[in-house]
Amino acid sequence: MKTVVVTDQNHTWFEIPDAAVLTARRYLAEPESGNEGTVRVLNLCRTGRYQGRGYYVSLVAEARGQRPVPDVKTIEDLKAEAYVRALEAEIQPLVQETLHHDESDRFQLDVYLGKHRSHQALAEQLFARVRAPLLRVLFAHADGGWRLDALQAMGLADVPLQDRAFLLEAVKSFMTESAGARRQGARSGRPRMAILRDRNEPHKPSNEEALQRFVKAARLVGLEAELIGPDALERLPEFDALFNRAGPEGIIYEFVRRAESLGMPVVDDPESILKCGNKVYMQELLNRHRIATPRTLIVHKGNVDDVVPTLGLPCVLKLPDSGFGLDVVKIESEDNLRKEAERFFNQSELLIAQEWLPSDFDWRVGVFDRRPLFVAKYYMAPGHWKVNRVVEGQQLIDGKTEAMTIGEAPEQVINTAVRAANLIGRGLYGADLKQVEDRVYLIEVNCNPNIDAGNEDQVLGETLYREVLGVFARRIARLQAALRNVERRDRFMEFVVKGGSLETQRTGCIVVGVYEGGKLSPSAMEIDAASGRALDEAVSRGDLEGELGTTLLLARIPGAASERVLLVGLGPEREFVESSYHTALCAATRMLRTTGADEATLCLNELPVNGRNGAWKIEQAVLAVMDGTYRFDRLKSEPPKRKRALARVVFHVAEGSETSAAEAAIDRAVAIAEGVTFAKDLGNLPANVCTPTYLAEQARELANHHGFEVKILGRNDIEKLGMNAFLAVASGSRQPPKLIVMEYHGGPRDALPVVLVGKGITFDTGGVDIKSSSDMEQMKFDKCGAASVFGALRAAALMKLPLNVVGIVPAAENMPDGNAMKPGDVVTTMSGQTVEILDTDSEGRLVLSDALTYAEKYTPAVLVDVATLTGAIVSALGEIATGVFSNSDALVREVVEAGDSAWDRAWHMPLWPEYQDTFKSDIADFANVGPHGDCAITAACFLSRFTKRYPWVHLDIAGTASKSGEDKGATGRPVALLVHFLEGRAAA
Ligand code: BES
Ligand code: ZN
Ligand code: ZN
Repeated sequence: MKTVVVTDQNHTWFEIPDAAVLTARRYLAEPESGNEGTVRVLNLCRTGRYQGRGYYVSLVAEARGQRPVPDVKTIEDLKAEAYVRALEAEIQPLVQETLHHDESDRFQLDVYLGKHRSHQALAEQLFARVRAPLLRVLFAHADGGWRLDALQAMGLADVPLQDRAFLLEAVKSFMTESAGARRQGARSGRPRMAILRDRNEPHKPSNEEALQRFVKAARLVGLEAELIGPDALERLPEFDALFNRAGPEGIIYEFVRRAESLGMPVVDDPESILKCGNKVYMQELLNRHRIATPRTLIVHKGNVDDVVPTLGLPCVLKLPDSGFGLDVVKIESEDNLRKEAERFFNQSELLIAQEWLPSDFDWRVGVFDRRPLFVAKYYMAPGHWKVNRVVEGQQLIDGKTEAMTIGEAPEQVINTAVRAANLIGRGLYGADLKQVEDRVYLIEVNCNPNIDAGNEDQVLGETLYREVLGVFARRIARLQAALRNVERRDRFMEFVVKGGSLETQRTGCIVVGVYEGGKLSPSAMEIDAASGRALDEAVSRGDLEGELGTTLLLARIPGAASERVLLVGLGPEREFVESSYHTALCAATRMLRTTGADEATLCLNELPVNGRNGAWKIEQAVLAVMDGTYRFDRLKSEPPKRKRALARVVFHVAEGSETSAAEAAIDRAVAIAEGVTFAKDLGNLPANVCTPTYLAEQARELANHHGFEVKILGRNDIEKLGMNAFLAVASGSRQPPKLIVMEYHGGPRDALPVVLVGKGITFDTGGVDIKSSSDMEQMKFDKCGAASVFGALRAAALMKLPLNVVGIVPAAENMPDGNAMKPGDVVTTMSGQTVEILDTDSEGRLVLSDALTYAEKYTPAVLVDVATLTGAIVSALGEIATGVFSNSDALVREVVEAGDSAWDRAWHMPLWPEYQDTFKSDIADFANVGPHGDCAITAACFLSRFTKRYPWVHLDIAGTASKSGEDKGATGRPVALLVHFLEGRAAA
């Protein structure tokens, strides 16, 4: 759902990326603002003043059919003392528990979209009940307890300066994690639906047996249903959908309204209830759409006398909002009419009078989601003229119900019912009709129709219940798919799965493969057949020979609904392996970027790739598309102009049964891609922007966003810890060093964490042993280890991996300066070991040595360090593989396998003892480089002197973290490897 944020005035600090932020003045003046689809209006104006501008924003939003938060009712509730007292009673226990240490007289709690820095639980509860985005809650101490003194809706202008950053985060997370996501987080497994029932309701829409059958059927469609009562309003956020099987009035309306504002599928929805509830409205609607009804007169005090002449006697008189036929009377005489009309006028200005249509039964058609669900004849209750449930004394007398299949009922009955129900909405309705000879009249459409075991289910049996719940299951699934897209939207790319035939897919471009020699992939063949051999012809003409990575774009192929078809050369079929798959994906993405297509359907994942499964192929495709469309242009003064850019990628699956696996693969891949993109962005930032302090801020933001803990240690703390090797490296720079520590708690409290340590040299000049000037700018990439740790944590948090992960980043700049470390300096590391700094350009191992010792305090289950450590690893492995070093062979296997499954490959390098004595020092314990022939392995050996207390892996990513040449830039590696590694650990 799109969100428009409305503020009372322009606040320069209030910037929400990718969101429409309007002033109230503009919102009110422009009726078209945000008119496409359902729009949620986040109203951050002061709404306290009746008919003030803020009040009007919500009022007008409702009139425009949008969803304001707060809605008008909430604004009004806030002013009612009775409401405040009722709320107080509900939240009392939590308030006492939350504030019991507080000694002061008064306490002010500012809740921003259900978020509060220290009192989160209370903030959440308040927001669940009072849907006002900025809420100031005042508590006062009285009689040893706390009472709720006042509730105020704040405006953006009232937010204290120090809360602004926090508020921005709260708004952003409100926009991305919609209600559904929040509900989902807490548990795994099937979506849950609440079936609301009221044991005290005299006209129960479903009997006990039917309710039980609903609960049972839920499981068959993958849902978990629970029966809840009218007292469970505050539990609503636990569920993913609401099905009302209680009476239509009072608190029930509050339930459906709340469910709707929580964004969950709900039947009956509030709009349907209002529409069905008023017969005047219904009559107007049916007339307008030319649906036949009995002759009807809308009666007011001035036209009572027209009733009998127009409709004759007998006729029927009804109250507009009558339910269950309770306020419907049969009029037999003028006298009788006047008496009953007078009685009804006390309750309503307008009444309905209808001609009398005698019949033995009414038709009742149940319609759900725009389709007929059941049909039955409701016979008149014995001795009465009304069907079903006539009140006689206190007794309800039911007429007989006779259900039949949809096919057995007259077509005209079914069609009229469905047409009428569709005028109301997509909910569950009961349409009542009368048939007089061959004419069918619609009497009314009701919400909340009866579904009783033994009556409406006579024909369909269990299937009826399953059909109803199937609609819920599909709506929930659709909503959750939409949520997946929300997270993707900020990357401007959406991934979805579709089945069905290819030639009918309306899409910007279908991407299919052609092997060398002209053999078409299965999808290519399908299109070829539909298009009268258009592809085959192009290939035979020699336009594409199938060489790996070549492409041919064909426009407007006959017989295919897609605007374009992109053929991608795959090379020889028997040589088609992972790397070829990648080349094909990259070539396709490169080409797609140049076309005007904003949607593409990728069919390359149908190709067999060396035994890889479907999930692997989809994950790789998502990552390849994200990689191929990545741009780092935030430092350009004007964003480069683009054509309509690719914004949606559809994966085509042949079998419907593959859909959910494909969607799961997409979700995983998108989380990884988010991590990769984050790492790329950090890597690509220049050193004057991305300083150690900047990295620390990023860590704070990341942690705030995902709710993990963060600690930033400055120079003083680092000194106190005795991290002198780290300090030596930072000493030549004006930029203060930062030791950044992030803790993600996804696993059991006492589970030992996986610790990730990333080298964070924001620029490496080499120091006094200065590097040569050619390509020195590439040394901004010396923080890519740190960047990958940030990225992996982000992905882990998005995937909610059930394990504990600690990220540690020693961040500093390596500069030559009067204060810089000098060749030959000796420092005492945090471990107590002394190091002679023979080369100031071997700074990575110095900062890491202290970080590795610091990590001991976490007793790592395993520690992985990631560093652009040596030029030598680039000579050894080039830009393809990351070098892996470890004190445990089992760990090496784990990491190499993670790299293989992520296709972010790594190669085992030796750490044999012979390499250990190449960096001796005559005055310190050892030096940071050997006299000659220093290599990637000696660097790793140096690190191994600090990692004796835990299982350890070192990844030298100097070759893989960035690319030079034409595609110059950070690669985001090895985020994917790290995430796969973490996943493996989480599953173990
Ligand atoms: N950051 C460099 C390593 C590096 C080199 C990363 C090339 C990316 C591309 C590291 O701090 C360094 O300078 N290492 C030296 C060590 C040598 C002086 C013993 C190297 O590899 O040249
Ligand atoms: Zn260096
Ligand atoms: Zn370096």
